[in-house]
Amino acid sequence: MTITTREIHLAQRPTALPGPETYRFVERELRELRDGDVLVENIVLTVDPYMRPRMNDVKSYVPPFKLDHALDGGAVGVVVESRSEALPVGSIVSHGLGWREHAVLAGQYAKRIELNGLPSSYFLGVLGMPGMTAWAGLFDVAGFQPGESVFVSAAAGAVGSLVGQFARLGGAERVVGSAGSAGKVALLVDELGFDAAINYRDGDVMGQVGAAFPDGFDVYFDNVGGDHLEAALEHINERGRMALCGSISGYNDPNPTGPRNMFKAVGKRLTMRGFIVGDHEHVRPEFERKVGQWLRSGELTYRETAWEGLDAMPDAFVGLLTGKNTGKAIVRLREDPTS
Ligand SMILES: NC(=O)c1ccc[n+]([C@@H]2O[C@H](COP(=O)([O-])OP(=O)(O)OC[C@H]3O[C@@H](n4cnc5c(N)ncnc54)[C@H](OP(=O)(O)O)[C@@H]3O)[C@@H](O)[C@H]2O)c1
Repeated sequence: MTITTREIHLAQRPTALPGPETYRFVERELRELRDGDVLVENIVLTVDPYMRPRMNDVKSYVPPFKLDHALDGGAVGVVVESRSEALPVGSIVSHGLGWREHAVLAGQYAKRIELNGLPSSYFLGVLGMPGMTAWAGLFDVAGFQPGESVFVSAAAGAVGSLVGQFARLGGAERVVGSAGSAGKVALLVDELGFDAAINYRDGDVMGQVGAAFPDGFDVYFDNVGGDHLEAALEHINERGRMALCGSISGYNDPNPTGPRNMFKAVGKRLTMRGFIVGDHEHVRPEFERKVGQWLRSGELTYRETAWEGLDAMPDAFVGLLTGKNTGKAIVRLREDPTS
């Protein structure tokens, strides 16, 4: 059977926000299946912030995307043809060949998922990489303990919205988030159970963080860098811990600014630890058990912003980078087989 797919290639490396010139939509024939291979029809794709630095030609913890090659990233799909005994037709799998409609891959690179009544997109969000990132960063990297206060930036996004809720459910004394609109601030406080939230677009991040934490805080989960990291350095308590997860304020800026008060880390004896989620697999069993439990009990609120169809990938990606998403940004290509 000859299968063609539509996929999105990197046509040009962006220097600021990616635009239409960044991409090329390509239709091509997929190769025949070999022993052990599966053909997957993608159901839902993810856009994630780390994809933006991968569009630059720089050395990092993941290699840059190649010009004139398909972009890749997380996807959940259904196996529609199989030469793998472990993955029969109809299996739902998560894999790394996103930014396209169909993919042929060796079965060992696809992870079978039991949906158990949940939408497949959850495995790109709360039960996938962003959920694990929130869990690993808060508990394993920052060593959060019940009774501590937590500040998290990009708090209405995929990772941040879970960090704040995990902290609350884990017995935090106070949880405050920062986000980029009044609507997101209201969501954090009214629906996600944050004690307070600030809108950084109102300005004076330094003053707003100080006012939100008159007694300081113990843990900062940094998704933003720049002005947020500077404010956190100023107001975090002595011996506070920072999980440095991302720095989205600089991803589209050729000259990103860093905090001007790094010396605060010295006097306050801070621990600042950068991390990559893939290094924390040892916490996965606890993450899956606990988060599954909180989802089933309804204690955890999970939000998504969905775009529809492969053609929407560029809009979804720029939407993610400019705050159009609340919760996890996803692109849905077809209905879930379960619904
Ligand atoms: N270390 C790891 O292993 C790892 C894994 C996953 C993610 N991450 C990092 O975690 C962070 C969050 O990722 P995510 O997937 O959860 O994305 P997300 O928060 O769902 O989406 C990104 C959000 O960033 C905010 N933002 C954009 N520009 C900003 C700026 N200049 N200042 C402040 N906020 C800005 C926007 O919300 P507003 O409307 O609030 O501006 C946007 O919704 C990113 O930095 C990402 O790179 C790291």
